[in-house]
Amino acid sequence: ETASPLPSNITSIKTLAESPGLTSNPATHTFTPDLHGQVTSVPEGSIPVIDYSLLISGTPGQRSEIVHELGRACQDWGFFVYLFFPSFYVARKATLRTEPVINHGVPQKLLSSILDGCRGFFDLEEEEKQEFKGNHVLDPIRSGTSFNVSVEKAFYWRDFLKVFVHPVFYSPTKPAGLNEISLEYSQRVREVARGLLKGISESLGLEGSYIDKALDLERGKQIFIANLYPTCPQPELAMGMPPHSDHGLLTLLIQNGIGGLQIQHKGKWVNVGTHSNSFLVNTGDHLEILSNGRYKSVLHRAMVNSKGTRMSIAMAHGPSLDSVVSPAPELLVSGEGDEPAAYIGIKYKDYLELQQSNKLDGKSCLDRVRISAV
Ligand code: SIN
Ligand code: FE2
Repeated sequence: ETASPLPSNITSIKTLAESPGLTSNPATHTFTPDLHGQVTSVPEGSIPVIDYSLLISGTPGQRSEIVHELGRACQDWGFFVYLFFPSFYVARKATLRTEPVINHGVPQKLLSSILDGCRGFFDLEEEEKQEFKGNHVLDPIRSGTSFNVSVEKAFYWRDFLKVFVHPVFYSPTKPAGLNEISLEYSQRVREVARGLLKGISESLGLEGSYIDKALDLERGKQIFIANLYPTCPQPELAMGMPPHSDHGLLTLLIQNGIGGLQIQHKGKWVNVGTHSNSFLVNTGDHLEILSNGRYKSVLHRAMVNSKGTRMSIAMAHGPSLDSVVSPAPELLVSGEGDEPAAYIGIKYKDYLELQQSNKLDGKSCLDRVRISAV
């Protein structure tokens, strides 16, 4: 089958959604009605919550408890809500000026500034956005609609801006101010991700610095992805983003107060909802590979709605582009003897390119490097 091209008059979902009198989804953006399946609402408090303050400044006992909870969250859900309390950091900053750890807080103000900055990008004239379209999946700045319109048959109700922000920082030059906010946001979130990966290393029984060193996180690939999901006339027939797992190690997501993210848990789709003062964190394929399948990458997708425009910003953290990631040898020996490696080693750059140039489709990319059922 060949892909039906995206009609040339549709340059963004934003303009499509704003077209006067739109009461149904165009055929190009329609999926079958049974697509969404059953969605479960989990009881309040079921999704793991990790308290940042205990991870970085708890007593040794509290810290080891949080490391244990982190491990449980990665194992059972591949997903957790990561709470931070800006006021707490302000207080600590005043008294503990020399503690490096204080830099890990991300102020609430920065979250609203980065959301506003991205909204400003999506609100640019269509011609202005075209300037940042990019040609290749590994171009450092790419904006567009759906996921990869050159290989898709039906298109997602989503516009995006995808920018490489580390080890080399890029930013679109418009709107004014986005560059500075994005740089600060990227740095702060990267510190948080590295802190979490330290805890996650320990939860696997490895040295705290294991993942950082083995995957060269000093030069780790960090990708900033802003998603815009405008209101949709028939959300039940649309898809914001299809089920997929993320290619990297850990993704930290914020949203504009409108929910739509669902994760798969024990075979069921679960609504995540919205949480203030927090990041939504999910495990990626490279954590699954490194941990030899102990921590699976979580399947997730984005739904759209007819009531309000949703925005999310996902920050993906992966190894350095030329790292070759294989299961950690330390995890292949246990009390019960040797455990076979379940994934072949692959250079992160090749994996990234493979995932981004194909249809976004569940864990199909990871299946290509899996060598045995785990
Ligand atoms: C993503 O998977 O990158 C986006 C999910 C979301 O918009 O919540
Ligand atoms: Fe994702």
